Amino acid sequence: MSALTLSTSSAATLRADAIVVGVAKGPKGPVVAPGAEAVDKAFDGKLAGVLETLGATGAEGESTKLPAPSGLKAPVVLAVGLGDAPAKDDSFDYEALRRAAGTAARALTGTKKAGFALPVEDAEAASAVAEGALLGAYSYRPGGNGPAKKGGKDDKAAKSAPLAEIALLGAKPRDKAFKAAADRAVTVAEEINKARDLVNMPPNDLDPKTFAAAAQTAGKEFGLKVEVLDEKALLKGGFGGIMGVGRGSDAPPRLVRIAYTHPKAEKTLAFVGKGITYDSGGISLKPAGHNETMKCDMAGAAAVFAAVVAAARLGLKVNVTGWLALAENMPSGSATRPGDVLKMYGGKTVEVLNTDAEGRLVLGDALARASEENPDAIVDVATLTGAMVLALGNRTFGIMANDDAFRTSLYEIAEEVGEQAWPMPLPAELRKAMDSPVADFANMGERMGGGLLAGIFLKEFVGEGITWAHLDIAGPAYHESAPFGYTPKGGTGSAIRTLVRLAEHTAAGDLG
Ligand code: BES
Ligand code: MN
Ligand code: ZN
Repeated sequence: MSALTLSTSSAATLRADAIVVGVAKGPKGPVVAPGAEAVDKAFDGKLAGVLETLGATGAEGESTKLPAPSGLKAPVVLAVGLGDAPAKDDSFDYEALRRAAGTAARALTGTKKAGFALPVEDAEAASAVAEGALLGAYSYRPGGNGPAKKGGKDDKAAKSAPLAEIALLGAKPRDKAFKAAADRAVTVAEEINKARDLVNMPPNDLDPKTFAAAAQTAGKEFGLKVEVLDEKALLKGGFGGIMGVGRGSDAPPRLVRIAYTHPKAEKTLAFVGKGITYDSGGISLKPAGHNETMKCDMAGAAAVFAAVVAAARLGLKVNVTGWLALAENMPSGSATRPGDVLKMYGGKTVEVLNTDAEGRLVLGDALARASEENPDAIVDVATLTGAMVLALGNRTFGIMANDDAFRTSLYEIAEEVGEQAWPMPLPAELRKAMDSPVADFANMGERMGGGLLAGIFLKEFVGEGITWAHLDIAGPAYHESAPFGYTPKGGTGSAIRTLVRLAEHTAAGDLG
């Protein structure tokens, strides 16, 4: 990942390959944002005018490269759009800063070092800029992250290498709050980028076994307790959901428990992730056009994994247990058939009417198992339904819960960290659509409200009295169109920031 430093240099004296400045959309054309005073001065105070001449407006997503005037050490100025200028006395929205920093970092692909002279009034703003830049600089590099070297035979690789060094200007390095905010941003961005790598890995390289091994490696590195149930242990333990989904594949399933504990923690959170390393649909095979991106179906497990590791690295005063329900959903002579009845962990039986509704089966087992430890709250994260994508689109995840206050808290937390999310209901009447003549219930019912129905299915496996929420990230987990802000193509790391902030609030005792 790119390196981040807090620099005391001014934008004029910093030795770098480029200086990033912010430009906002004012009522009468582009306005240069605070933080860029030294750069504007080098342009004789005419930077806004120069930008306007070049057609810049300050709109979000816009970036304009200029040759630097002689007063600057850096050869290039990159002006990045911040969107509408805030009202007088208001500051820029953190998410606007995060996105602009991401756009700038991506525009500087192939550059070695850039100074970011964006408006950072407080530590939170510095954190947003740092996070946006580190996330925006990301690109999936199957061969690893080599530094950008100019010239020679690896020139092509150098041109596509992520921005190597980010110097945050104006962000008081000796101020404790700024330093802590920057450190937090680095940790969280690093774990998000690792999760993106897992999602982007081809499914022939990442199967349940290799995913579990990655959790074990991280466990050793960061002092987490990791337990892996293999197919023998899952069979013996009665995990009929995970086994039923995984049995069609040559790559057998796993259930990973990865736990972070703090000696003084008063609360315990359980995060449960859907980890289908490839979803072909199974015997209810997905048609061509619907299976090309289904390596992303483990994004929930990747998010949970990242959040637990981040909580540990941040040393939060809360216990966080991650459950990764890993399986590959494939058709074969040994695969579960539509019509089969599975006995889930805890004893409930499920008639599998559609083998493509596999996420709820692996999650049912994992939720029942997580409930046995009686955590203060459970949050599951899953690329669960196409219906949620139809409802909320490609950028927003749905939040369902068995507790109105908890759902509202998660919604507010998502907003606080700049993740788009929306509360969704769990209408009780949908439950009877899953009635089955041969089992406790079926794994599907009516098509209408499919995302909510899946949530109602999961609720059956949550222990009595445990506060629970379900995040359906099927839309935002994997980004197929052009990158924007700090969101790259491919795996996005959706829900990680929300989970980490939930753990922080829980540690601080902010939630009931
Ligand atoms: N993994 C899919 C859901 C999905 C769809 C994720 C699009 C990301 C993008 C899930 O396992 C699935 O196939 N769900 C079915 C359920 C149906 C058969 C009841 C769906 O949504 O069509
Ligand atoms: Mn499926
Ligand atoms: Zn799936």
